[in-house]
Amino acid sequence: MRRIYLDYTATTPLDPQVFEAMKPYFLEKFGNPSSIHKFGQEAKAAIEESRTIIAKHIGAQPAEVVFVSSGTESDNYAIKGAALKMREAGKTHIITTKIEHQAVLETCDNLAEHGVTITFLNVDKDGIVDPENVRQAITPKTGLISVMFANNEVGSINPISEIGAIAKENKILFHTDAVQALGKIKIDVNELNIDLLSVTAHKLYGPKGIGAIYVRKGVELEKLLHGGGQERGKRASTESTPLIVGFAKATEIASNIMEQEWVRLADLKLYLKSKIENKYPFVIFNGHPKQSLSNILNVSFDSSRINIDGEALILSMDLEGVAITSGSACTSGSVKPSHVLLAMGRDVETAKASIRFSMGRSTTIEDLDYALNILEKVIARIGKRNK
Ligand SMILES: Cc1ncc(COP(=O)(O)O)c(C=O)c1O
Repeated sequence: MRRIYLDYTATTPLDPQVFEAMKPYFLEKFGNPSSIHKFGQEAKAAIEESRTIIAKHIGAQPAEVVFVSSGTESDNYAIKGAALKMREAGKTHIITTKIEHQAVLETCDNLAEHGVTITFLNVDKDGIVDPENVRQAITPKTGLISVMFANNEVGSINPISEIGAIAKENKILFHTDAVQALGKIKIDVNELNIDLLSVTAHKLYGPKGIGAIYVRKGVELEKLLHGGGQERGKRASTESTPLIVGFAKATEIASNIMEQEWVRLADLKLYLKSKIENKYPFVIFNGHPKQSLSNILNVSFDSSRINIDGEALILSMDLEGVAITSGSACTSGSVKPSHVLLAMGRDVETAKASIRFSMGRSTTIEDLDYALNILEKVIARIGKRNK
């Protein structure tokens, strides 16, 4: 059976060039970067070179980049690390949004249990945060603003530069989860006034299990991990040299083809969107029509017009070889509608009847035609028209 992967937002396959770059560091160049002998120094040099590459791509200094295990750890470190430090200055309030990834939302919920006040800002119908709402939420106790760069479910891109400027004006730290943005959008931490930035390799054809946090020089975070003095004392535990080398290689490749890939994917997205809207009059497209990642198309089936079980749709598509994602998550046996779609004003049933196509480097127009055919078959089988 033909199998088509349209879930590049969840993760991407490893680029073979990245695999080749990593290989020697699994095999012969395996030293512990903290060792002072040749083996160790070889690994350390590779890590520092990788740090320089990643720093360059976000406009940072190498010393401001700290390697961690994932995007999740990076978000946790930024938010918990800042929250614990800012208390020393009497700051106990964080501003974030309702559309963040769980790595941010759950971290904030956890801090709320420990006396930190959290404001979860609303977004507009396209999933965009209004910088004025950020400004109005600021109190004398606010120590951190955390707003994601680009949303992983609907692709909407937030006005990061404006929010960064507001944070700077008010002397508040600004964190952004740029997991979905790195390799797709040009990022310059200085131009955008970003103090803390979270990224991960597996969304840009790099390995899983490696991420990074940018920490602006002079910004103090409480450590999450205590132990050795690795990463200039900011993140204990032996660095994974092969994963770090892979992350840098993946960043370099993504950056080299960023503009052309953006345009190619935007054309594919337009094609997919026009096919869907011509065929199904009862769909709603989620996400900003322009200010959005070019590889994500999120579609809801309007519950007032047609009854479709999003989970059944995904599973039926998968049985036919097409991998997409639903706008809902299965938690403890029950299907929960996407918090992002609810925040954008979708009703519960429509949010549950939502699917996300996310395209990547290997996606072709033939793949989309194949997926559209399967979609048609599945909808004919499981959709129940209300009108
Ligand atoms: C926006 C966003 N933040 C954070 C994460 C978590 O990254 P990781 O899987 O590396 O922990 C993801 C992954 O899906 C994401 O999309």
